[in-house]
Amino acid sequence: MIITTLMIPICLYIIYLLFIITSSSPSSYSIYHSLFTSTSLITNSNSTISHHLYTLTRRPHVAGTQANADAASYVFSTFTSYSLPSRITSYHVSLTYPISRSLTLTHPQSDPPTSITFDLNQKIYSGDPYANEVLPTFHAYAKSGTAVGKVVYVNYGRVEDYDTLKQMGVNVSGTVVLVRYGEIFRGDIVRNAHLAGAVGVVVYTDKKDYGGCGSKNKGYPDDRWMPSSGVQVGTLYSGAGDPTTPGWASISSSNADCERLSDDEVEQSGDVPLIPSLPISWADGDFILRSIGGQVANADWQGCPDSSVYRVGPGPGFLNLTYTGSQVINAIQNVIAVIEGAIEPDRFVILGNHRDAWTFGAVDPNSGTAALLEVARRFGKLKRKGWRPRRTIILCNWDAEEYGLIGSTEWVEENREMLASRAVAYLNVDCGVSGPGFHASATPQLDELLKQATQQVRDPDNISQTIYESWITSSESPLIGRLGGGGSDYAPFVQHIGIPSVDILFGGGYPVYHSMYDDFVWMKKFGDPMFHRHVAAASIWGLVALQLADKEFLPFNYLSYANELQTSTKVLHDVVLDKGIDFTPIYKSIRNLEKAANKIANQIKALEETRHFILLRNKDSFKVRELNDRLMMAERAFTDRNGLLGRPWYKHLVYAPSSHDDYGSKSFPGIDDAIEVAKNLNTKEAWHVVQHEVWRTSRAITHASLVLNGDLT
Ligand SMILES: *[C@@H]1O[C@H](CO)[C@@H](O)[C@H](O)[C@H]1NC(C)=O
Ligand SMILES: *[C@@H]1O[C@H](CO)[C@@H](O)[C@H](O)[C@H]1NC(C)=O
Ligand SMILES: *[C@@H]1O[C@H](CO)[C@@H](O)[C@H](O)[C@H]1NC(C)=O
Ligand SMILES: *[C@@H]1O[C@H](CO)[C@@H](O)[C@H](O)[C@H]1NC(C)=O
Repeated sequence: MIITTLMIPICLYIIYLLFIITSSSPSSYSIYHSLFTSTSLITNSNSTISHHLYTLTRRPHVAGTQANADAASYVFSTFTSYSLPSRITSYHVSLTYPISRSLTLTHPQSDPPTSITFDLNQKIYSGDPYANEVLPTFHAYAKSGTAVGKVVYVNYGRVEDYDTLKQMGVNVSGTVVLVRYGEIFRGDIVRNAHLAGAVGVVVYTDKKDYGGCGSKNKGYPDDRWMPSSGVQVGTLYSGAGDPTTPGWASISSSNADCERLSDDEVEQSGDVPLIPSLPISWADGDFILRSIGGQVANADWQGCPDSSVYRVGPGPGFLNLTYTGSQVINAIQNVIAVIEGAIEPDRFVILGNHRDAWTFGAVDPNSGTAALLEVARRFGKLKRKGWRPRRTIILCNWDAEEYGLIGSTEWVEENREMLASRAVAYLNVDCGVSGPGFHASATPQLDELLKQATQQVRDPDNISQTIYESWITSSESPLIGRLGGGGSDYAPFVQHIGIPSVDILFGGGYPVYHSMYDDFVWMKKFGDPMFHRHVAAASIWGLVALQLADKEFLPFNYLSYANELQTSTKVLHDVVLDKGIDFTPIYKSIRNLEKAANKIANQIKALEETRHFILLRNKDSFKVRELNDRLMMAERAFTDRNGLLGRPWYKHLVYAPSSHDDYGSKSFPGIDDAIEVAKNLNTKEAWHVVQHEVWRTSRAITHASLVLNGDLT
């Protein structure tokens, strides 16, 4: 009798212990993690994704329009239907839309002189009921005005292209330049033209870069290529966030606006163009090219083998370009869903993708939005099965990315201190799917985690191997890009705050980019016919998020960072070998970072071993937190409160866009800028600035190792 009454509490205690072991041990979350990619959860998810994409891309949805507000409601109600608490956060921001455009080419030497006025329309193919809602082709934030002048062909419009013209004795001053898209950010195309003295810019899509050379290629809808009337639109703004609120959030309510720069002040910022420009099609560009005489352009400036011979001019073709845009303050909507963390609700793992598109946006960006909704669906399912993440997961659907990363930047600026003290990582997907082949970029402490996640997902284009195995076929270790470019919403997180970040996609560049042909039919025919690449993108995105949200110790590896910094330093060092710049401070700081990375890895290993004993766990949860905070904050140490010289919003001294190409990803942008200036001026003072930037960067790296070490000096 006594034995049995004693046995009840003992049994209960054993059950209780078992409960603790299963609920708080790492194996408990790994059950949910394998469920995340299990057949039971993802059967038919390709159809769900396809349905989301179809709904999101029915109509063109440019930022600030009703159609995009409707798309925001769709994302909001979908999050909500998956039981994720959600909200819409609005900002009032400065956006531009086209009012009128005209482009006339005059051939003064023909007899009589002939003039043609281009209609500037993209051809509508039958079966697209909302094509008439597409905005007239334009450049966002283009300068309103008229530019008339002889036309000069300047290849991709890079600084070196103008150097080539100079060597050929061609004077660009007072001309309207014809530039082809393809190598640099279009805002830099217009800036470089202005600096060279041009009065206007026409940017066309060369068949060689987007049309697929060869007469067999007719263009979409017959094949995947850009049709000859297709036009790539896009922004010229090279800053980040609302141009009228640099560094602070564009919050407004119905009765009060926030502080804003005047139009003149915005112009002085140097981030908006100062001469008019227009984007045009291959057909129109080809027509203008045929009106240009003068010297034959270099071989690498030519087009497809069957194109006409390109000459540089100036003239005799004469262009008259007029553009008028409207500048308005419109409301935009970020949609935000939150899964609160069970143990560390004040630590954030943030997933982000934008929603606004220049036209229908099937690839850019709604392949990513469809994947985000799929991640949300699976998280909702895990929640219903009892999963609660250790840390808080936040799903963000940004607005007005196309205009200049506005939705994400305003949110980051508004929440700067909270993010700087609490955000563990930011995971971006923009053009999620445009074809086969996985690509990733990351801040280097996340390299290992990416490799692990890709080992758990089958390659949708070859299910006999994992994405990781396909990824490494071309090289021994997978090629991971870096996040110095200004091309997507990771920029404010990495470059302004210093948050470890990732950006993933399937496919890469695609020919109908930013044209009205980036639509659901293109995706279904060419981008991802079965939507299995979308499913795989959601799997990797979610798995990376789950590891970051659930692992007791953050899966950050700073040895990768040290190796990456060593390589980048070597590259810069080689550029200025004969200039007497001393790179020893950086090499030294990298060695310290390496030591600190090893030290914290060993501390974690030691602590993990003691944690096999359940009873010790609660006792040192503060110690776990302290180690994680060091891992989280080490990335912040790469930022400098003064920012880059002349570009104070960019705080990160390792990753920021190149001054000459906002899309180019640069390591050590401060040193790189200074070298660029010094090469031009070649004065002692200018080379001294390079040395100063070397010191400043080495201090940031040293700060990162101090944070990792966790000791005060
Ligand atoms: C280029 O042309 C402009 C005006 O047409 C003129 O003022 C300038 O001196 C020229 N530059 C050179 C280097 O010939
Ligand atoms: C250029 O075009 C505009 C608009 O069509 C017109 O008003 C202007 O007179 C033209 N300028 C020249 C020099 O042809
Ligand atoms: C698919 O994967 C298998 C197994 O790794 C490999 O042997 C084969 O070459 C791959 N096929 C393609 C088309 O890459
Ligand atoms: C989803 O994938 C299956 C094959 O796995 C395919 O039969 C189906 O057509 C796909 N659904 C869509 C919408 O593409």
